[in-house]
Amino acid sequence: MLANHTKWMNYAILQGLRSKGATGKNPPVGCVIVKNDLLLSYGKTGLSGRPHAEEEAINNVSDKKNLIGSSMYVTLEPCAHKNINGLSCVDQIYKTGIKEVFVGCVDPDPRTNKKGINFLKKKEIKVHENFLKDQAGKLYDGFFSRILNKKPYVSLKIACSLDGKIALKNNKSKWITNELSRSYSHLLRSQNDAIMTSSSTILNDNPRMNCRLNGLQINSPIKVILDRFLKVSSKYNIFDTSNKKDIFLYSVLETKDHLNENKFLKKIKVDKQFSDEEFFNFIFTDLASKGINNLLIETGSIINTLLLSLNLVDELLIFRSGNIIGNDGLSFVNNLNFKEINDLKDYKISSSKTFGNDILEIRNLIS
Ligand SMILES: NC(=O)c1ccc[n+]([C@@H]2O[C@H](COP(=O)([O-])OP(=O)(O)OC[C@H]3O[C@@H](n4cnc5c(N)ncnc54)[C@H](OP(=O)(O)O)[C@@H]3O)[C@@H](O)[C@H]2O)c1
Repeated sequence: MLANHTKWMNYAILQGLRSKGATGKNPPVGCVIVKNDLLLSYGKTGLSGRPHAEEEAINNVSDKKNLIGSSMYVTLEPCAHKNINGLSCVDQIYKTGIKEVFVGCVDPDPRTNKKGINFLKKKEIKVHENFLKDQAGKLYDGFFSRILNKKPYVSLKIACSLDGKIALKNNKSKWITNELSRSYSHLLRSQNDAIMTSSSTILNDNPRMNCRLNGLQINSPIKVILDRFLKVSSKYNIFDTSNKKDIFLYSVLETKDHLNENKFLKKIKVDKQFSDEEFFNFIFTDLASKGINNLLIETGSIINTLLLSLNLVDELLIFRSGNIIGNDGLSFVNNLNFKEINDLKDYKISSSKTFGNDILEIRNLIS
């Protein structure tokens, strides 16, 4: 019988996607176990990273004898480091009698990197490496960026009018895009580890920056606030910590204690002499050191302009509605002062979705 490997790996990718944004600093992994081309079990990485997807998929099979001779499809190389019971995922796979493992991506984490695959091969388990690597790899844009570049994967979300405006000239911006777009942007929030905004956007919009989709509130991201001069008082919605998630606040000021009673708030001092580039590099490196893989940014023109001109955006998420605001509105980006057409940067469209009369374009910088 010809097994449908692509179908099963796609199913594993879907499982991984279900845990994206909810696995702490650990990567979101999906795993499917199949025998005679029939589904035996599936698993995804647990909340905050444990149990691993492979462990969950194995544990979900009540009669372990059924695992003998089965095939596993897993989006990331199974780990070679031990869990609290002293067993790595590859130990557990070996013990079950699984005969072959399809692996989406090799894990760059030095504790596992190729060690998991080599262990399985040594035990004569057939390994199919890099199977649907590009598709599975989309789950790891953040994890790979943190491990390899020591910075999170940065997605800049923009909700704009047809003519690229993010607010009226009086700064009113609720709601340029429609309800479906806004729901989807809440899903994106749930899939990111942290969300960043600025003092200016907080003072204008008083956003909550959480995920309010039923059942996914628990996956609300950690909040990151840029407030160099501590202008934002504790009365703003952003400081609501009912979901018990940390808030990181970056400021150049040493002391001002009006926020001290918030035990989830961590103030981080930034050197006031930093250039814009040093400022953002410091913050991104600091967030990576705190285990943030995927960072969603929702800011206005000033920060957008800095990030785009410094090439710090990995992905643009542009929700564009059908309404036209006009030149007196606030543009999503300010002057970039290009003098030559050849100097313009091109953001390649990687996918798009329509939400009623709105469109979401996902774009990445062509390097
Ligand atoms: N539709 C959308 O997608 C969307 C999303 C977000 C916001 N908005 C709208 O955008 C408007 C706010 O836009 P905005 O351009 O005024 O604000 P912004 O880009 O969100 O933030 C600008 C603020 O960031 C702070 N900042 C931190 N680090 C900085 C640095 N290195 N250099 C410069 N500034 C730094 C500054 O405040 P400090 O001096 O206090 O540090 C500055 O005023 C609001 O009307 C809001 O509704 C729309």
